[in-house]
Amino acid sequence: MTSLISARDLSVRHGEAAVLSGVDFDISPGEIVTVIGPNGSGKTTLIRALIGLERAATGRVSRAPGLVIGYVPQRLFIDASLPLTVRRFLSLPHRVSDTEAEAALIRTGVPGVGPRPITGLSGGQFQRVLLARALLVKPQILILDEPTQGLDQPGTAAFYRLIEQVRQETGAAVLMVSHDLHVVMAASDRVICLNGHICCAGTPRVVSAAPEYRALFGLGTGGAFALYRHMHDHDHEHDAGHGHDPDHPHAAHPHSCAGTDA
Ligand SMILES: Nc1ncnc2c1ncn2[C@@H]1O[C@H](COP(=O)(O)OP(=O)(O)O)[C@@H](O)[C@H]1O
Ligand SMILES: [Mg+2]
Repeated sequence: MTSLISARDLSVRHGEAAVLSGVDFDISPGEIVTVIGPNGSGKTTLIRALIGLERAATGRVSRAPGLVIGYVPQRLFIDASLPLTVRRFLSLPHRVSDTEAEAALIRTGVPGVGPRPITGLSGGQFQRVLLARALLVKPQILILDEPTQGLDQPGTAAFYRLIEQVRQETGAAVLMVSHDLHVVMAASDRVICLNGHICCAGTPRVVSAAPEYRALFGLGTGGAFALYRHMHDHDHEHDAGHGHDPDHPHAAHPHSCAGTDA
């Protein structure tokens, strides 16, 4: 199937620093792909490069002609003193009708918040409004950079269920950045583990068992990892890479995660 966005051997620099190197990436229509990685590992930079907001130092990014992207950036500062209602916010930058606006709010589970000041919403409501705004462009791909930042566990789980529902209803592909490892694992078709380069990638099952992933997340965040294993009844504790698992042959990715042991 033709990719919506692809990258080949993509490198991005910020000044002298190489932030990303040698990244290959593809996302197909309807796929949910999640990028995970430590702080500063280049997740936001990758997203921005795929959208065309960052210049590639080397390599190439291509997007399907006329691709419509609904993008929710990681940070969106709204001045608390700004008297901006949800309804007006939904018409920025493109004006939408009242009917379209309310339909989007209904779809994202926050009907009726239109007249409310945007700065008065709870964290979960605000994320849903951001999603509603991204959906109003009728995207072929939704790109969400840490959309559940600041939400609690139930709020995060509910948000991912909503994303899955939106994917089913609209057929849009979803590219997400997340720190919510265990929920991400359950909600993604494919996971990319990033640390300046792609450490490992594949189905959630493959990635969770990959030594590169475990080196990045398995030790430092035992709680989240343990929870994931618990939820999915995994048994990879001592056997990563020794394959009774038919997915395993793909787990050993040619990239090493040199950044972590330097
Ligand atoms: N505009 C910028 N100018 C200089 N350095 C940047 C800029 N944006 C990000 N960086 C650096 O690039 C690295 C990756 O950042 P980022 O992509 O935001 O990581 P992540 O989203 O994974 O936390 C970090 O070291 C960060 O400090
Ligand atoms: Mg980021």
